[in-house]
Amino acid sequence: MTTGQELRIGIIGYGAMGKAHSYGYKVAPLIESLPVTPRVTVISGRNAEAVARAAHDYGIPAWTTEWRELIERDDVDVVDICTPPGTHAEIAAAAAAAGKAVFCEKPLSTNLSDAKTALAAVTAADVKNAVGFNYRRLPAVALMQRMISEGAIGKVLLWRAIWLSDEFADPTTPYDWRFDASMGGSTIADLGCHLIDMALWMAGPVTEVCAQSTTFTTERSSGVGQNPVTVDDSSQALMRFESGARGSLEVGRVSMRRPCDFTVEVNGTRGTLVFDYSRLNELQFGSADDDVTLYGMRTIRTEHPTHPYAANWWAIGQGVGYGSSFANQVADLLRGWPEEKWQPSFAHAVKVQAVADAMERSAFADAWIAIDRVDR
Ligand SMILES: NC(=O)c1ccc[n+]([C@@H]2O[C@H](COP(=O)([O-])OP(=O)(O)OC[C@H]3O[C@@H](n4cnc5c(N)ncnc54)[C@H](O)[C@@H]3O)[C@@H](O)[C@H]2O)c1
Repeated sequence: MTTGQELRIGIIGYGAMGKAHSYGYKVAPLIESLPVTPRVTVISGRNAEAVARAAHDYGIPAWTTEWRELIERDDVDVVDICTPPGTHAEIAAAAAAAGKAVFCEKPLSTNLSDAKTALAAVTAADVKNAVGFNYRRLPAVALMQRMISEGAIGKVLLWRAIWLSDEFADPTTPYDWRFDASMGGSTIADLGCHLIDMALWMAGPVTEVCAQSTTFTTERSSGVGQNPVTVDDSSQALMRFESGARGSLEVGRVSMRRPCDFTVEVNGTRGTLVFDYSRLNELQFGSADDDVTLYGMRTIRTEHPTHPYAANWWAIGQGVGYGSSFANQVADLLRGWPEEKWQPSFAHAVKVQAVADAMERSAFADAWIAIDRVDR
């Protein structure tokens, strides 16, 4: 049973992720009995009218335009950061210094140095910390990782992922923080971090990368003038894993009519697994152990109660979606409260950021870059 004891959350940022996280805290106790009941007590944002409306719509009793004030409140146990990446490290460090648990949207930062600052702060304060790599909380993605770790495809040889969207395809889309590398991070850091998280989780440490990046629309209008675009529209990278496996990663935001399509494929010595986000409750599996007359890939319906996360949701066939990943995320964080450490932690996110930084540096230098050259 979820107990009556409350865990009080303050959410910083009321945009798309402020809403998704609010949803996650509301729904998690419906899908799983937890040792504490999460309750969002306050939300912050810079625009008073907009944050007041969001507080009303999300059912949150208080709001403020000052994130520092939110952190200091007595009725906040966990600070949940849903602002642009360039703000994460400073907010996380302030929350940790106030002794609060810190949950931060991805990417932890726009660069490795700031990510390490955030890690140092939560480590010094000894507070719980995690980063919102929510896609790993989908049943099919979690099953993929579980099958790899259980040896279903043998030793991993090849790992590849592609993430395509058309959010930057229209050159008249106005300038905002997503086009500013110091605030939004590169496309490698912003979209690619989800894929790098999965690469490290499924195939282990990456040792070296070689990348190229392109920006097709180099200026955008903010309404009052033209602003330089400092992020990549698209990047491709080759990866070498410590295990000897090889991999590739592509991210692009100029892929017309692709809304948020990503695929992850892993080829092992005994089989292949493929996840396609546009069919998010399915996993393709081909095994060398199958009778050869069945040569090919089969579709696993990943909502069976034996699959990760699926048992708490609807009957098989009804679908577990994007929103569910945010409820699963909350359940994962709170299930072991207060003893268990949160995963994936800031320490893991720093490793993700190191790979992203190496890819950015590689694209700039037009050369292979070892991860330990950027992460010393
Ligand atoms: N996990 C996912 O699926 C997913 C999806 C989208 C975005 N994100 C991540 O979530 C974070 C927020 O993205 P979003 O789409 O919700 O953004 P958004 O633009 O919808 O909302 C941003 C919020 O941050 C506030 N904000 C903006 N600039 C700020 C500043 N300088 N200081 C303090 N607050 C500021 C805004 O007032 C707003 O409340 C980013 O890190 C982004 O990469 C994650």
